[in-house]
Amino acid sequence: MTDKFVVLPMNIFITGASSGIGEYVAYEYSKRGSTIALCARRKEKLENIAQKCESLGAKIYTYSVDVTDQHSTKESIEDFLSKVPTIDLVFANAGLGLLDFVEKGDPSVMNDMINTNVIGVNNTVVPFIPKMLEQYSGHIAVVGSVASYVAWPGSGAYAGSKWAVRALTGSLRNSLPKQIAVTLICPGFVKSEMTDPVEFKPFLIGTEKAAKKIVRALDKKRKIFIFPWQWNIVVLFRRLIYIFMGRAFQKKHDKFRLKNQSNLSA
Ligand SMILES: NC(=O)c1ccc[n+]([C@@H]2O[C@H](COP(=O)([O-])OP(=O)(O)OC[C@H]3O[C@@H](n4cnc5c(N)ncnc54)[C@H](OP(=O)(O)O)[C@@H]3O)[C@@H](O)[C@H]2O)c1
Repeated sequence: MTDKFVVLPMNIFITGASSGIGEYVAYEYSKRGSTIALCARRKEKLENIAQKCESLGAKIYTYSVDVTDQHSTKESIEDFLSKVPTIDLVFANAGLGLLDFVEKGDPSVMNDMINTNVIGVNNTVVPFIPKMLEQYSGHIAVVGSVASYVAWPGSGAYAGSKWAVRALTGSLRNSLPKQIAVTLICPGFVKSEMTDPVEFKPFLIGTEKAAKKIVRALDKKRKIFIFPWQWNIVVLFRRLIYIFMGRAFQKKHDKFRLKNQSNLSA
């Protein structure tokens, strides 16, 4: 329900727009006739999504970019800024969510996750700050996770990366003038390519529903948005719940690890 808010077309830069949350958030803003930069590595997927966004009313620029690459990300940002008079929203959403598999003795996957989820966010957000300060307005939204509050077995790098993003976002909010809003989005489980292989997904919600909730939270300039609502309780009582649910998660993870033992030795 966006009726209470004046819904205007906006200039928006979205990373991780080739699937999942980023894709559906792009559709929501397209319905408002926004000008949107869609960024991700998979060019073909971006082109298909761009067509759908345009059919919904958006003006689209696509950038096939890897957010871990500081220079090409900055080039995309500069190009988009040369096409729009102001930047209204940066939606730093690109992310990787994989298991650590520390048993394998190889930190590569963990490092990739930290690189994408933390350095990628910096590469996306920071270059916009001088422009936002100049225009004295703007909104920075970063997609964290409820994992930034609770580190389940096997997902230390993911939780750690989202923990870092929570700290970065909190500090940004306190560093910038209040005319520049900063929102941390903390989803629980949302249907997407990332969560499709996951077996246990408590309180799972659909991608479109999640995108609508996110956009509503951004309209309200929420500082932190944890959803679906059940996760607010988990976060509030996380120490207690971690003691009880942590054991259950550990058992599940042990089973999963044993089942995948053959992959580990590959
Ligand atoms: N789904 C959930 O339950 C959930 C829960 C909590 C938090 N989140 C967070 O929500 C965000 C979106 O995830 P999702 O669930 O929508 O998963 P998804 O469908 O896998 O989307 C991830 C997006 O990130 C992009 N991406 C990954 N690495 C990239 C890189 N190096 N450079 C540029 N783009 C990159 C992917 O595009 P390309 O592969 O084309 O580059 C894709 O568009 C992530 O930050 C994730 O951690 C999701």
